[in-house]
Amino acid sequence: MEHLMQARGPLMIEHRLIERMISIIKDVLIQIESTQKVDPVFVDTVVDFIHTYADRTHHGKEENILFRNLSKRDLSTEDQQIMKKLLDDHAFARQETKALVEANTRYRNGDKSALPEIASKLRTIAEFYPEHIEKEDKIFFPASMAYFTDEEDHSMLTRFWEFDRKMIHEKYGSVVEGLEKD
Ligand SMILES: [Fe+2]
Ligand SMILES: [Fe+2]
Repeated sequence: MEHLMQARGPLMIEHRLIERMISIIKDVLIQIESTQKVDPVFVDTVVDFIHTYADRTHHGKEENILFRNLSKRDLSTEDQQIMKKLLDDHAFARQETKALVEANTRYRNGDKSALPEIASKLRTIAEFYPEHIEKEDKIFFPASMAYFTDEEDHSMLTRFWEFDRKMIHEKYGSVVEGLEKD
């Protein structure tokens, strides 16, 4: 079936996994509110998912392949504006995740006052993604497909698979590097 898939296929499948993580985050936010505590290891897991999967692997394919190819096309003003907004959204997600990591470090080191910051960053992430994903799934991806021939779309899909194939190696390369630095 792979050859029948459009390039946006894997991106939309990835959106579904991101949505599942968002729904877990929402459940944990309710628990944080009632218990007034958080498991820092859960936050680590969320951060790793966002960093490695949502940002590096998913936004990576969008930015380095789809958006880059689109930037070489004669995009309508509206599509250009949407793409710019999507890129800003990605930068925003990165910045919020960084703040979440910092708050989690403070919390882990005994600073309980970091809890509201953790909850607020988790909430921001949980609220931000569904809107971003909907914009891509329903508006931007369908519009962007019009700029490519079937053949171009297919070659983008091939590049997506190649991009994914490198990810597991990059991820565990950085895990080992991180441990070597400790
Ligand atoms: Fe995106
Ligand atoms: Fe996306």
